[in-house]
Amino acid sequence: MEMRAIVKAAARPGVALQRVPVPEPGPEEVLVRVKAAAVCGTDLHIAHWNAWAQGAGIRLPLVMGHEFSGEVVGLGSRVRTLTPGDYVAGETHIPCGECYQCRNGLQHICKNLKLFGVHRDGCFAEYATIPALCAYKVPAAIPPRVAAMLEPLGTSLRAVLELDVSGGSVVVIGCGPIGLFAVASAKALGASRIIGLDVREDRLSLAKRLGCDITLNPRRPETADQILEATDGVGADAIVEASGNAAALEGAFAYLRKGGRCALIGLPSAPVRLNIGPDVVFKEATIVGIHGREMFRTWTRMLQLLASGLLNVDPVVTHEMPLDDYEKGLALLEAGQGGKVILVP
Ligand SMILES: NC(=O)c1ccc[n+]([C@@H]2O[C@H](COP(=O)([O-])OP(=O)(O)OC[C@H]3O[C@@H](n4cnc5c(N)ncnc54)[C@H](O)[C@@H]3O)[C@@H](O)[C@H]2O)c1
Ligand SMILES: [Zn+2]
Ligand SMILES: [Zn+2]
Repeated sequence: MEMRAIVKAAARPGVALQRVPVPEPGPEEVLVRVKAAAVCGTDLHIAHWNAWAQGAGIRLPLVMGHEFSGEVVGLGSRVRTLTPGDYVAGETHIPCGECYQCRNGLQHICKNLKLFGVHRDGCFAEYATIPALCAYKVPAAIPPRVAAMLEPLGTSLRAVLELDVSGGSVVVIGCGPIGLFAVASAKALGASRIIGLDVREDRLSLAKRLGCDITLNPRRPETADQILEATDGVGADAIVEASGNAAALEGAFAYLRKGGRCALIGLPSAPVRLNIGPDVVFKEATIVGIHGREMFRTWTRMLQLLASGLLNVDPVVTHEMPLDDYEKGLALLEAGQGGKVILVP
C-alpha cells in the first residue's frame, strides 16, 4: 500500500510531496493513521537544510514532521499497551531505555535520544510508525488539531511548572507558538500577572487572547522599566525565554527579581553573554534548561489541565489546511505569521 508523504529527499534546500510505501511497525511500534500534524520551526530547518539540519544526524530520504495526533491502526508483535482504534498523540523524544538518564527518571533527556521526524520518518504523511512508548493516549474530547500540538504545548507547560508561577508574575519572551503555550500555561497555573514580549504586533494580540495582562514590544528601550513598574518595582518572579533571541535573553536579567527563576526553551544560534555576577550570583537567579516534556509526568498534568478547562490553547491554531498545501504552511511559518499551522492528511 502507498501513501502521500512530505519527503526531504536530498541534502539541499527543498521538500516534495511523494507517494511512498505505508511503513510497517516494528515489534514494539504502532502504525498510526495521522489525523492532524502541526508544523514546527524544526521542520523549516530540515526543509532549508541549514547548518543545524546538516549536523543533526539525519539520514535521507526522510518523511518530515514530528507533531501529530492520530488513530492506532496496526500493532507490532510485542505491543500490549495499545489497541487498534486508540486515539494518540506523538511524543517526539525516543529514549534508549538503557542509559543512566533512562534508568534514573530522565528518559526525556536520554543520552542516546532519537527524535521522531528527525532521526526516523515522521508524520507529514497519511500514516506513521512510532514506538508504542511514544504514542500517548488522548481523550476523545480533545480535537485532533489540539492533540497535534500537545508535544510543543508540553514543552511550554513543563517550563511554567518548573517556575512555580502560582500567584506570581511571569514574563514570556517571544510569543510564537511556544511562547503562546507558555502564556496559556501560566494562566492555567494561576500566575497573577503575565507579561508577553514580542517584536510582532499580531503575535502580541494572540498573546492577549491567551491570557497576557500586558504585552510589550521589546524594541522600545523603556521595556525593562515598564516591567519593573508592572511588578511594583520588584521585578518579575519568573521568566520563560521562548524567542531564541540572544539579546532578549541578555536583557532579561535587568527585570528578573532577586531570587527569581528563568526557564530557557529558546535556542539561540550563537553563544549568549551573561554578566554572571549581577545577573546570576548576586541575584541568586535560578536558570533551568527545558528540553521537551517529562515522560510522562508533563503529559498527565497537561491532559488534566485541558480536561478541566483551565488550559485552553484553541486560539493558537490560526491555519488549518490539507497536507498537499504544505508549501503554504511552511511559508506561513517562515514569515512568522499567526500561530500554529495544522496539516490534515
Ligand atoms: N527546548 C525545546 O525543547 C524546544 C522545543 C520547541 C522549540 N524550541 C525553541 O523555542 C523557540 C521558540 O519556538 P517557536 O516555535 O515559538 O518559534 P517562533 O520563531 O515562532 O517564535 C519566536 C518568537 O520570538 C519573537 N522574537 C524575536 N526576537 C525577539 C525579541 N528580541 N524579544 C522578544 N521576542 C522576540 C519572534 O517575533 C517570534 O514571534 C525557538 O528558538 C525554538 O527553536 C525549543
Ligand atoms: Zn516541534
Ligand atoms: Zn537512554
